[in-house]
Amino acid sequence: MKRIAVLTSGGDPPGMNAAIRAVVRTGLDKGWDVLGVRHGYVGLVNDNTVALGARDVGGIIQQGGTVLGSSRCPEFKTEKGRLKALRTLSQREVDALVVIGGNGSQAGAHALSQMDYPVIGIASTIDNDLFGSEVTIGVDTALNIALEAMDRLKITASSHQRAFLVEVMGRDCGYLALMAGIAGGAEFVIIPEMETDPETLANRLRADYAKGKAHALVVVAEGARYNAEKLQRYFQKHRERLGFELRVTILGHVQRGGAPGAFDRLLGTRMGAAATEHLARGEHGVLMGLIEGKITATPLKEVAANRKHLDLGLLDLARALNK
Ligand code: ADP
Ligand code: F6P
Repeated sequence: MKRIAVLTSGGDPPGMNAAIRAVVRTGLDKGWDVLGVRHGYVGLVNDNTVALGARDVGGIIQQGGTVLGSSRCPEFKTEKGRLKALRTLSQREVDALVVIGGNGSQAGAHALSQMDYPVIGIASTIDNDLFGSEVTIGVDTALNIALEAMDRLKITASSHQRAFLVEVMGRDCGYLALMAGIAGGAEFVIIPEMETDPETLANRLRADYAKGKAHALVVVAEGARYNAEKLQRYFQKHRERLGFELRVTILGHVQRGGAPGAFDRLLGTRMGAAATEHLARGEHGVLMGLIEGKITATPLKEVAANRKHLDLGLLDLARALNK
C-alpha cells in the first residue's frame, strides 16, 4: 500500500471533516500518500483529485460540511461511470479508496468493491439509516440543532396556546423525528414507518388541549406520507371544523449545516483512523460503523443487502411520555 484516496459523497453531515482529517493524518503516519477526491463520485469519474498533506486538513475538525465537496452522481450508478472511476484510480496509482457517506454512497462503494477494487466505507449520514452502524456521523449534531429549534418553538407556542409542527429531515427513515420528539418532549411524532392521518392528529391535539396543555408540538419526518406541507394544507382547508390552526416550520438543510459537536468529531475521528488500520492489515470491502460502543467492520455486501430498522418500541415510549 503506497497511496490511498478519500472522498465524501451524498448528504454532508457534520463530522465528515473529522473523518477526512483522521484518514489523511493516520494514512500519512503509515507512510502513505493521501489523495482527496473532489465532489464525491463526480471527482472520481472526472479525475478531479488533490494531494493532501497534514496541513491541508488543519483547522477543519470544527467545521460542518466537507472540505472535499460532495455531490449526487447518477453516472456512477452505471457500469460505464464506475469504469471511468476505476481508470482515474489506476492513472493516479491509488491502491485503495475510503468512501465517507450514507446508504447510497455505500451502495456505490460496494459496487466498486465488486469490481475487485479495495474500498472501505465510513458510516456518515444524519438519517441514521445505514445497516452496520448503530449511530452514524452527523446524527448527534443534527438532533441537537432540531432540539434547539423545537425548544424555541415551544416557548412561543406556550405564550399563545398554539399548535406547532416541525418537519425534520429523514428521506425514508423516521429516526431523527422520533428521537427529536422524545428528547424535545413533543406531543406527537409522525414517521414513515408508522403513518398517521391528519384527522387522528387533530383529535389527539384537541384531547391534549382539553387536558389543559398550554401548547402542542408535533414532529414529522420529511419522508412521511403526510409531511408538513400536506398537513398544513389539510389543517388550513378544515380550519373552521377543526377549530384550531397548525403553524408549520420546516427545518430542512439547517439541520445539516451546523458545526459538529464533540460526539460527531470523535466518531468521525475514530472511524477515519479505523479505516486506515483495516487497510494497513489488508482488509477492505467493509464499512466502519459503531456497534456496542466499538468501531466495527461490517462487509459492504451485508450493508448493501440489508435495511436498518427503527426500534418502534421508542414510538410507544414517545406516546407514554405525552401526558
Ligand atoms: P447518501 O449516501 O447520503 O445516502 P445518495 O443516496 O444520494 O446519498 O447517494 C450518493 C451517491 O452514491 C449517488 O449520487 C450515486 O453516485 C452513488 N450511488 C447511490 N446508489 C448507488 C448504487 N446502487 N450503485 C452505485 N452508486 C450508487
Ligand atoms: O440523506 C441525508 C439527507 O439530508 C436526507 O435527510 C434528505 O432527504 C436529503 O439528504 C436531502 O438531500 P439534498 O441535500 O440533496 O436536498
